[in-house]
Amino acid sequence: MGLIKNFFQATARPEGLLGRLMLSTMNAGHAGLSDWGMAQLQGLSPESILEIGCGAGRNAGELLKKYPSAHVTAIDHAELSVERTRDYNRKAIEKGRMQVETGDVASLRLPKSSFDLATAFETVYFWEDLDRCFAQVSGVLRAGGCFFICNESDGTDAAGQHFEKIIEGMHCHTAEELRQTLLRCGFSDVRICHHPSRPWICLVATKSVEDKKA
Ligand SMILES: C[S@@+](CC[C@H](N)C(=O)[O-])C[C@H]1O[C@@H](n2cnc3c(N)ncnc32)[C@H](O)[C@@H]1O
Repeated sequence: MGLIKNFFQATARPEGLLGRLMLSTMNAGHAGLSDWGMAQLQGLSPESILEIGCGAGRNAGELLKKYPSAHVTAIDHAELSVERTRDYNRKAIEKGRMQVETGDVASLRLPKSSFDLATAFETVYFWEDLDRCFAQVSGVLRAGGCFFICNESDGTDAAGQHFEKIIEGMHCHTAEELRQTLLRCGFSDVRICHHPSRPWICLVATKSVEDKKA
C-alpha cells in the first residue's frame, strides 16, 4: 500500500523514480479528459497562453494546435514536469512558440496583465490557499482574459473522495466551490460545464476589468 500511495502522491509533485513513472502515464491517462475540456473552450482567440501545472506537457502542445498563432508559457513547480514538457514539445520550443519554466502558481514570477488565457488541467486540487493562487492567476491575465479549469472530479464522486484520502494535500472541489472562489479573486462570468456521463467538470472564468487581490 505504501508504494501505491507514494505513486499517487507523485501526481501532486512528480519527483524521483515514482515521479518519472507517474509522468510517463500522465499524457495518455488524461488525454480523454483534456480533449473533452479543450472542446469546451470556445469563442476565444488567445495570442498568449499560460498553462499551469503542465505535467508531462501534452496539454501545452494541444493548446498550440488549437490556437496556431498563439505562444504558450508552460509552468510547473516540479523540475521533472518541466523537463518532460520540454522533451514533449521540443519542436515548438525550437520554433519559439513555447517556453517552459519552473514556477509555483502561489507566487508567479511573470509579467502582470500579459496573458489572454490561463489553463489548469487536473492541478487545482493540489494548490494550497486557492484564493491566493487564483488571485495570482488573475494578476497575470489581461482584463477580459480567461481562466480555464478542467478536473476529472466534481468533488462528489467516489474516485475523487478515494484519492483525497490517499494523496496528502489533495482537495477535490465542487464546481460551486471553485465558482465562489473565482468570484472572490477577480473573476466574473463563470461558465461551468459538466460532462454528460462522467464527473468531469470545467470552468471558464473571465477576469474582471479591475483587479481585486492580485
Ligand atoms: C495531476 S498532474 C496534471 C498534469 C497535467 N496538467 C495534466 O493534465 O496531465 C498535476 C501537476 O500540477 C503540478 N502542480 C501542483 N501544484 C502546483 C503549483 N502550486 N504550482 C505549479 N504546479 C503545480 C504538479 O507538479 C503536477 O505536474
